[in-house]
Amino acid sequence: MSYVDIHCHILPAVDDGARDLEESVEYARRLVDEGARELIATPHVGNPRFPFDPTEIADRVAALSAELEQRAIPLQIHGGGELHPSEPNALSNDQLELIANGPPGARWLLFEIPFAGVDQRFADDCRELMARGFGLVIAHPERARGLFSDGGWQLLRSLVAEGALLQINVCSLLGNNGLEAQEAAVGLLRSGYAFTLASDAHPGTRDHTAALGFALTLRAGASSLQAWRLTQANPRFLLRSGIPAGFNEQRGVSLGRAPLPVA
Ligand SMILES: [Fe+2]
Repeated sequence: MSYVDIHCHILPAVDDGARDLEESVEYARRLVDEGARELIATPHVGNPRFPFDPTEIADRVAALSAELEQRAIPLQIHGGGELHPSEPNALSNDQLELIANGPPGARWLLFEIPFAGVDQRFADDCRELMARGFGLVIAHPERARGLFSDGGWQLLRSLVAEGALLQINVCSLLGNNGLEAQEAAVGLLRSGYAFTLASDAHPGTRDHTAALGFALTLRAGASSLQAWRLTQANPRFLLRSGIPAGFNEQRGVSLGRAPLPVA
């Protein structure tokens, strides 16, 4: 078994991730050395700060993959994207398909949490995306301002009960996003609400890896089995099986669950 990272800005020169090919390659080499074999490249999509046409993803992934193969770096890269919360439903289904992953019938999107906080508009957008046939993995919910102090968690927990999954960041566990985000990430981890841990790496500036995440997960109180699920089994499941209908009910996550304990 090996690490799988579903959130990584490894594509060079498309957003605030890797600035050039060498940064991408250097990071990929390090991942392989640490035991990673697969990742999803997730450039920002729909983000006003980083205009990017998702039709470019396949060619850019192919170009980086060819470069890695030439340099004998065995890292498989899947195409994806980090969908921005500003106007996610302005994208057509064809555009969303370009950044979705998983098999037919269980396709899912990586959807970025609003840093300003989880509000009704975000919840409505999530429901519209799900109604359009896409499962959701919500990226770094711990980074939403006031998640556990202003009602955001009630909205987010409802979305989880309706099928959304939560992805926390390595850098949040590390404390690099502040104490509130760190405590929220630990709370999501210990409560079982976090389905997967991802690097959200920006090679060259934020070089966190899933292997570091594995160690931080243990330090935060997870069992080795939970750490393995968060960094290996669950992200691999997302790639191979996607988000099947009714998946969260099978996991036992429901609205009736006790309030989330924050560390
Ligand atoms: Fe990201």
